[in-house]
Amino acid sequence: MYEKIQETASWLKERMTTAPTTAIILGTGLGQLASEITDTYEFPYSEIPHFPVSTVEGHAGKLIFGKLGGKDIMAMEGRFHYYEGYDMKEVTFPERVMYELGIKTLFVSNASGGMNPEFKIGDLMIITDHINFFPEHPLRGKNFPTGPRFPDMHEPYDKQLIAQADAIAREKGIRVMHGVYVGVQGPTFETPAEYAMYHRLGGDAVGMSTVPEVIVARHCGIKVFGVSIITDLGLEGQPVEVSHEEVQVAANKAQPLMTEIMREMIKRN
Ligand code: HPA
Repeated sequence: MYEKIQETASWLKERMTTAPTTAIILGTGLGQLASEITDTYEFPYSEIPHFPVSTVEGHAGKLIFGKLGGKDIMAMEGRFHYYEGYDMKEVTFPERVMYELGIKTLFVSNASGGMNPEFKIGDLMIITDHINFFPEHPLRGKNFPTGPRFPDMHEPYDKQLIAQADAIAREKGIRVMHGVYVGVQGPTFETPAEYAMYHRLGGDAVGMSTVPEVIVARHCGIKVFGVSIITDLGLEGQPVEVSHEEVQVAANKAQPLMTEIMREMIKRN
């Protein structure tokens, strides 16, 4: 795996004309940010050696390089989900490559189901912490030399970046919530009992991504900022039907606010 990561990074470096230190992962229905990137050059995942290919609807599947908020950035439009059948080394392959390319800060976005009764559909939740419920750990196996065998996780999401996002949201009058993201494998949405359980265990929102990527990024010393868009609600005693289409629609509607915060953060960092 290490050789593959090196080969992919070398292939990209040979073709890159910028040297970004910031990367962004755009989640389900959150591709709008990509359209704001200027001076772009792109690589479809299918053309990048060893890169997995995204299969889920709503994920275009390409690496975009360019400028956002006056900074050189790299963006992943489309990510790899465990439920698609990839193993954890594949799911987190891009973060390993990001480290090799010199990325220092990672912005992640996703769509999730809210379990905190204060939340409304369309809310932005700044991820303050997570609970890893994936059945396989992304760092299982031989340790990579980027970090220790037993990595510290006391601050998975950078406190300074969270404070900065709060300040920007205040300035712009954008409602932001804070919360703990529970990462699960999917692909089923939760049963009422599962939403209730994850909430009682300390989760505010639940989704099928992000946690593996954040763990690997942290293992590489990359700072992380995460935003989750609450696209549906799994509140105790109020079971409602959830669909992928509905998740995409809600994410799409809320994404301009997320874009505004992230663009401003990148500008100030
Ligand atoms: N559960 C899990 N993943 C999700 C949800 C949800 O309710 N909404 C969007 N992604």
